[in-house]
Amino acid sequence: MGIDRVTLRPLDEELLQALLAAAVADADPREVMPPVEGPSGWTALRRQAFLRFHRLRSLSDEPVETTYAIVVRETVVGAARLAPHKETDTVEAGVWIGRSLRGCGVGAAVLRHLLEAARADGAQRLVASTHIDNIPAQRLLTAAGGDLSQHDATTVIAWVPLQSPWGSPS
Ligand SMILES: CC(C)(COP(=O)(O)OP(=O)(O)OC[C@H]1O[C@@H](n2cnc3c(N)ncnc32)[C@H](O)[C@@H]1OP(=O)(O)O)[C@@H](O)C(=O)NCCC(=O)NCCS
Repeated sequence: MGIDRVTLRPLDEELLQALLAAAVADADPREVMPPVEGPSGWTALRRQAFLRFHRLRSLSDEPVETTYAIVVRETVVGAARLAPHKETDTVEAGVWIGRSLRGCGVGAAVLRHLLEAARADGAQRLVASTHIDNIPAQRLLTAAGGDLSQHDATTVIAWVPLQSPWGSPS
């Protein structure tokens, strides 16, 4: 899918409600939020935890990351995030897309937007970690020039350089 058909909008309360609706309709909680005790699925407790998680991390007075709603044709279909990483000049990225839109190129367009945003912010590297079985994520990160290595039994980490040696975007 073309990058121009996929937009990233900084999360606000209205988009957060649309994001929860997209997650409930089209994703498993385990793919889109930290674990919450209790029965599986989108319980009331888990929906509240989803809202609390994003309000705390992105919409509070002291946000720890920037979260974007991924919008395709005016519909929120997932979320992307950029957060400062402990290593200097490095940002950490994360993405999830609703199941019905996976495999259509949305992830590739989202990653291009995230790389642009990270570059514009002056970062030198983007890092992302993913499950060892997550082939789509690894393909995206490799295509972006990422250096992938196995971190532990289940996790692969990708480091994507953001600046060319000549100082302009590669
Ligand atoms: C990972 C994720 C963001 C990828 O987004 P996507 O929109 O599905 O990816 P794309 O359609 O842009 O495809 C990316 C690449 O993976 C390949 N791919 C897509 N689905 C695939 C599948 N089921 N098996 C193998 N390869 C697949 C595509 O062919 C493409 O590779 P190519 O460019 O070499 O052809 C999406 O699947 C997702 O949200 N997964 C759940 C959450 C998650 O795992 N997040 C990642 C954490 S870093």
